[in-house]
Amino acid sequence: MRFADFQNPCPETAIVLGSGLGAVAEMFEVESEMDYAEVPGLSTSTVPGHAGRFILARHRGKPLLIAQGRRHLYEGLTAQEVTAGIRFMHRIGVKRVVLTNAAGAIHPDFAVGGLMLITDHLNLQGTTPLLGGPHFHDMSEVYSALWRKRTLAVALSLELKLHEGVYAGLLGPQYETPAEIRMLRTLGADAVGMSTVPEAIQARALGMEVLGISMLTNMAAGLSKTPLHHSEVVAVGREASEKLGQLLVGAV
Ligand code: HPA
Repeated sequence: MRFADFQNPCPETAIVLGSGLGAVAEMFEVESEMDYAEVPGLSTSTVPGHAGRFILARHRGKPLLIAQGRRHLYEGLTAQEVTAGIRFMHRIGVKRVVLTNAAGAIHPDFAVGGLMLITDHLNLQGTTPLLGGPHFHDMSEVYSALWRKRTLAVALSLELKLHEGVYAGLLGPQYETPAEIRMLRTLGADAVGMSTVPEAIQARALGMEVLGISMLTNMAAGLSKTPLHHSEVVAVGREASEKLGQLLVGAV
């Protein structure tokens, strides 16, 4: 597929799919695909469970862009590099983006396989894509309150439990220690992950509307007896993809 295909007509909405959540794309009518490597400034992910391609889909007659897989800071990339996909979307005319991710559950009422609508985030990654400017962007409503309200209504109509909470973005690539999870709880975090925050900041700085949804693939370190493993995160993500897909179909 070619670059120009994405602009004719231009999709206004995009979805970024996180770890193990690639199958969500199957819920939409796929029209064409393009590897990240074909887009200048983008490259393919090195992480298992992350494909690296854009899918142009159709949803209720309108074009929809799906990014299957993302790049992470823990791969050794800069915040500018991991947000190249967001700037690409903005360049072709995308106005609203749903950022999904796999996350560890910290809130005591959350369970594995659940979904959390991100109300806000803690940027604990020590960096931002806005280094060097533009400076002093307002971040008081990164995750659109109106879009969240609509998404909660969709969840209700699907009889699907959708938690709300604060996402703590950490650098990784190692999982957290139990002491770090206790610290994050004290700081007000409900879930923890290693992505999403740079993309959300970049999208907001470009004036895009952002929705964030976490798939709770595991209880955070120290909250369950078993050690954490990426394959478990991917497996739970895959199993619960259908639920997330249904929610996204309604939310976009
Ligand atoms: N911690 C950090 N990132 C994650 C986790 C976790 O427990 N689960 C999925 N991504």
